[in-house]
Amino acid sequence: MRFRGRLRVELSREIVEEDLEAIREALEAVGHHLVKGFRNPEEGGRVESWSYSGRVLELVISSGRLRLDEASMRVRRVLEEVLGRSRRLGVRGLRLEDAVVELDGEVRVGGRLPFVRGVEVVGGRTVIHLEPMDEGDLKRPILLRLLRLLNEKEVRARWGGKAEHWQLIKQSRVKLEPPPYTDDPNKVLEEAGLVKRFSVGQWLYTPLAAYLLRMVREVFLEEVVRPLGFVEAVFPKMYPLEVGLRTGHLRGTVNSLVFASLPKTYDIEEFEELTDYMYVMDEAPPEEVGRYVRYPEYFLCFAQCEPFYWFFGGELVDDGALPVKWYDMSGPSFRWESGGIYGLERVIEFHRVEVVWLGTPEQVVSIRNDLLKAYERFMDEVLDLEWRLAWVTPWYYEQSGTVEKVEEFDIDRPGTIDFEVWLPYRGPREDRKTWLEVGNISIHGTKFTEPFRIRHNRGRTLWTGCSGFGSQRWLISVLAQKGFNPENWPPKLREYLERNPPPDPVVLVTYPKTQSGRRELEQLVKYLSKYLRR
Ligand code: SER
Ligand code: ZN
Repeated sequence: MRFRGRLRVELSREIVEEDLEAIREALEAVGHHLVKGFRNPEEGGRVESWSYSGRVLELVISSGRLRLDEASMRVRRVLEEVLGRSRRLGVRGLRLEDAVVELDGEVRVGGRLPFVRGVEVVGGRTVIHLEPMDEGDLKRPILLRLLRLLNEKEVRARWGGKAEHWQLIKQSRVKLEPPPYTDDPNKVLEEAGLVKRFSVGQWLYTPLAAYLLRMVREVFLEEVVRPLGFVEAVFPKMYPLEVGLRTGHLRGTVNSLVFASLPKTYDIEEFEELTDYMYVMDEAPPEEVGRYVRYPEYFLCFAQCEPFYWFFGGELVDDGALPVKWYDMSGPSFRWESGGIYGLERVIEFHRVEVVWLGTPEQVVSIRNDLLKAYERFMDEVLDLEWRLAWVTPWYYEQSGTVEKVEEFDIDRPGTIDFEVWLPYRGPREDRKTWLEVGNISIHGTKFTEPFRIRHNRGRTLWTGCSGFGSQRWLISVLAQKGFNPENWPPKLREYLERNPPPDPVVLVTYPKTQSGRRELEQLVKYLSKYLRR
C-alpha cells in the first residue's frame, strides 16, 4: 500500500521572506517525525516538495504505511511547535487534496464509497482517488475505516463469500431407537388450532400454546438460569439505528432487520387525506401510508442482547459490580427471512430468553462453563433429548459482517457454541438437515465492550457473553422427540403440568378448520384431560 497527497496548511498570517529559514528548519523536523515508529523509513512518510502562497504552506506528502490523516496531524503538531516558537506562526487549518491510495492487487470497490472520487486499476494495482478532506475529516478515523473496509472487501473476495464453520464438540447418546414419535409437531399445532398463522412468519399462540411455551421456558429458568444467579431485566425491543451501528448489525444483517418508522406528525388533521381515503375505500395502501411516516429511525429487537451493551456503554465498572448476570424475556425478536420460513421452527417473530453477562475474561469464561454444564444437564437429563454441541462461526461475526477467520477451536477463547436437537420427523440423524439449532452460547471477547466503551476503573479487560434460548424451537424439539402425550414426557414437564393446570383449547363452530385437525385436538385433550383445569 502507498499514499500520496497534497496537504495545504493554512497559517495564522501571510508567509514572508523572513519566515523561510524557519520553515525549512520546521520541515526538516517534520521529516524526522514522519518516519518515527517505522523500522524501515520507506514505510513512514516524507515531504516530496513544498511551496507557499499567501497564508498557505503546501506540502506534497508520500508514505508507505503511515496513513495520510496521521501524517497530516504529525505535520500540524511539528509546524505549530517550531514555527510558533521561532516565528509566532500558528496553524489555522488543514486540507488534504488530490490524495491517492494505492493498493496491491485488484480490489473491487463499490460505486458510492464516502470520500472516494474514483477508482482505477493500473498494472495490477488499485488506485483510489479521494475527495478533499478538511481538518475535521482528518481528525475522525475516516481513512482508517475506509482502509479497513477495503481490506475486508479484499479478504471476502478472496474467500468467495462467507466461510461457514461447523465442528462437532459433543453429542448425546442415541436415546430414541426406534423413535417413538415421528410426526411433524408444527403441523399438529397448526391443524389442532393451538396456533394460527397471523402473517408471514408470525403466529398467534392460543392460551394452550402459550402455556406449552411457558412450560418449557419456566423449566429452563428453574433448572438453568435462576440457580446460576442470573436476574431478570427488561430490555427495550425497538432500537435506535445508532445501537445497530455500534453492534455492527446495521452493516452485517441490514437485509434481515425489521425497521420501524414514527409518524411525521402527531396532528391527526394532517392525516386527513389518508384517513378519508381509507374510510371510503376500506383499504390501506402501504405506499400511501408511507407518505405520512418518517424515515425508519429504529429497527426491532434482533439479537436481544444489544441493550445490555448499550446500558454499560460509557460506564466505568469496578470489581464490586462484577460479574453482571442478567436475562431478558420481555418481548419478541424479529428476523426477516426471505425463504425457509416454516412452522414454529423458522419464523419472523420469535420469543427467546436472552441470558447476558459481563466480567473479566476469567469470569466470563467461567460463567460460560457453568452455563454450558447446566444446559447439558437440561438437555440430557431434564428434557431427556438427543442433542449435540458444535463450535460454529460466531453469531456476532456473522451478524456484523466481520470477516475474520474462525480461530482454531479453543473453547476458552471467544466463540459460539450451538445447541442442536434431532427432529425425527425430518429423517435420519446422519443427515445434517434433520437437526435444529435451538440455541447458542457465546463468549464475545471485547467485540461489544470496545465499541460501547465499557471500561473497568482499574483498566482490566472486560468481556461479555450471551446465550439465547428460543422458546418456540425448544418446544418443537420436545414435541418432535416425545410427542404430545405427557405420559412420554420427562418428569419435570409432567410435574409442571400437575402444578399448573393447562387452559382449555379453542373450539369454535368453524375452528379448528379441518376434520383431521379436530381429531388431533380431541386426542390432545384426551392426553391432557387429567391435568386440565376443571
Ligand atoms: N444474541 C444471540 C443471537 O442473536 C443469542 O441469542 O444469536
Ligand atoms: Zn446475545
